Amino acid sequence: MRILATGGAGFVGSATVRRLLKGGHEVFVYDNLSTGHADSVPGELLCRADLDDSERLVDFLRSKQIETVMHFAGSIAVGESVEDPRSYYRNNVINSQILLESMLEADVGRILFSSTAAVYAATDGLLTEDSAKDPDSPYAFSKWAIEKMIADFSRAYGLGYGVLRYFNACGGSEEGRFGEDHHPETHLIPLVLKVPLGQREFIGIFGNDYPTPDGTCIRDYIHVDDLAEAHLLAAEAITPGRGSVYNIGTGTGNSVLEVIETAQDVVGEKIATEILPRRAGDAARLVAGSEKLRSELGWQPRYKNLREIIASAWQWHQANPNGYEK
Ligand code: UFG
Repeated sequence: MRILATGGAGFVGSATVRRLLKGGHEVFVYDNLSTGHADSVPGELLCRADLDDSERLVDFLRSKQIETVMHFAGSIAVGESVEDPRSYYRNNVINSQILLESMLEADVGRILFSSTAAVYAATDGLLTEDSAKDPDSPYAFSKWAIEKMIADFSRAYGLGYGVLRYFNACGGSEEGRFGEDHHPETHLIPLVLKVPLGQREFIGIFGNDYPTPDGTCIRDYIHVDDLAEAHLLAAEAITPGRGSVYNIGTGTGNSVLEVIETAQDVVGEKIATEILPRRAGDAARLVAGSEKLRSELGWQPRYKNLREIIASAWQWHQANPNGYEK
């Protein structure tokens, strides 16, 4: 398949690009490098461009004879979206509409979209794709709006699509060669590991008064290479004019305190913590069942537990304490 990965130089995008290349697909990366890293993908595949330049995008889609778009590009931080909603509606909703219209113009019939667990209402049980939705941050709402837009485009114009709702992507790849590097970093695991790296004095815990067993928020931490595998399977299964939605989680929830304890175990030292107020937009518990992904597409996660995942992240951060920056 000839695939265009928007945001393909980002954390999940680049892991997926590497997996697609190994699977024999032809891949092009379309990324403005506002948050992505050129060093995370083969240079010859990268086109540095903005999604809102539709003329250039249509030309690119046509000239490379793209068959499928994987749409990773977008802003991703829950807290930041509460502070600065307009950039979330622009980067996520408006740019996605430009992308979809460009695809129609260039006759590209399939799209796989990176959505999020944040579209769901928090619950004590395992979330399934049909669970109640409550996208309660601008970030989550922007992703939910794009899901709806894609489904409407499919109905009206015959696009085939897949939607993948990620839970908490994390981990390092290829023995520490690739990993997570956001500026500013907002994600829990890299921030926790910055303490033993000597880059932070402590990890702040955003609230310990949630209705969970230890009072801290529970998430489903999934290794980025297991996410990448799901993209490969889902892209190969897209059928023209039809759409499917899949959760990608492990089915296991871990609290913020459990993440910190596991990280202490991996690095072999105590990690200083401080309890802070709740962060706006955070749900108490988001954990996914991935039954649909397993039964329909045969997906199997390779990473079995949080310890393995954090150990892989630690390998990356130790080898690259400044991320992709040389
Ligand atoms: N947290 C802290 N301290 C920190 C950072 C995070 O306590 O310094 C807590 C958060 O409050 C949250 C948990 O750790 O309870 C995980 O936070 P992250 O920022 O790592 O991840 P989120 O769950 O907020 O969001 C991530 C992705 C989203 C995705 C979501 C789905 O960034 O794109 O997972 O669960 F939608």
